[in-house]
Amino acid sequence: MKKILITGIAGFIGSNLADRLVAAGYEVIGIDNLAYGLREQVPQAVQFHQIDIRSKEIYPLFEGVDAVFHLAAKNSLPDCQRDPVETLDINATGTANVFEAARRAGVKKVMYAQSSAVEEGDERLKGFYAISKVADQMIDEGYKAAFGLTTIALRYFNVYGPRQDYRRNPPPIMTKFALQLLKGERPRLFEDDDRNARDFIFVDDLNDFHLQCLQDDRVDNRMFRLGSGKSTSVKEVFACLKKVSGSPLEPIIERRPDNSDFQKAVTLADISAAQALGWSPKTNLEDGLRKLVDYLRNEKEKGNIV
Ligand SMILES: NC(=O)c1ccc[n+]([C@@H]2O[C@H](COP(=O)([O-])OP(=O)(O)OC[C@H]3O[C@@H](n4cnc5c(N)ncnc54)[C@H](O)[C@@H]3O)[C@@H](O)[C@H]2O)c1
Repeated sequence: MKKILITGIAGFIGSNLADRLVAAGYEVIGIDNLAYGLREQVPQAVQFHQIDIRSKEIYPLFEGVDAVFHLAAKNSLPDCQRDPVETLDINATGTANVFEAARRAGVKKVMYAQSSAVEEGDERLKGFYAISKVADQMIDEGYKAAFGLTTIALRYFNVYGPRQDYRRNPPPIMTKFALQLLKGERPRLFEDDDRNARDFIFVDDLNDFHLQCLQDDRVDNRMFRLGSGKSTSVKEVFACLKKVSGSPLEPIIERRPDNSDFQKAVTLADISAAQALGWSPKTNLEDGLRKLVDYLRNEKEKGNIV
């Protein structure tokens, strides 16, 4: 494996992965339409193409590529709910187009991003983001059956770290709290946020497994859940962020409204399949959140956060 193509390369996970692949000596080609991602996050050494994954013009870019990481997606849940048709167009039809490009070019393996949203219960599965990710699994099965495409489904839980999209409204929970603390604002927590717990994985740990996928054929045609293997409550996240940011601020504690769409979701990834292949998440919450806070502080100093 020498030449690697990443879709969604200008985004959070894609740009961090590109850094790792370039550092490891791979030749990297990147695709992104910059709908959410930022051009400056793509490393210089990458051959970058600003193009939509739904376009047939992506096909020639896959020629000579050994492996693909398909990460491009519309993945802000409120955005997905606002526009179901575009969500399915990008996340399902776009995925089919990437698989099609890969099989036409004879790519050896395609790693693609699934989401824990597909296993977070019936209510979550009614959301268009989850629906689009379920569709991806079916498209994957179709491409394996019809064309023998080698795929690896990577079911990410809550990924966090530098370059997570803080411009999004609302930003992901860790970034939202960190931004508020850095701006001197008190985050709002709900009384029951000690029971509102999710499995958070630091982006470098995720990328350790991505790199392993390139070298290890035992992963082929399988699905892996990628998380830390621990559930951390929103209250614990706040406490840890307060510690690493050195903020004196206490949260405002509120009662959760009765009409809230809160699903009391406690997520916990069963990471045994990836662990059995020698992978393990290494970053503890405090170290990961320190890196996130350092990144946001730096963005604030550059004037990108006001
Ligand atoms: N971050 C998480 O916690 C998480 C959890 C589960 C699954 N995922 C999945 O991982 C993948 C990467 O997520 P991320 O957090 O890096 O998101 P991100 O939004 O930071 O990156 C996605 C990138 O895809 C690009 N993109 C969107 N539509 C496109 C299109 N039509 N054509 C070309 N490029 C397009 C965006 O511009 C962006 O740069 C996504 O598939 C997402 O659904 C992420």
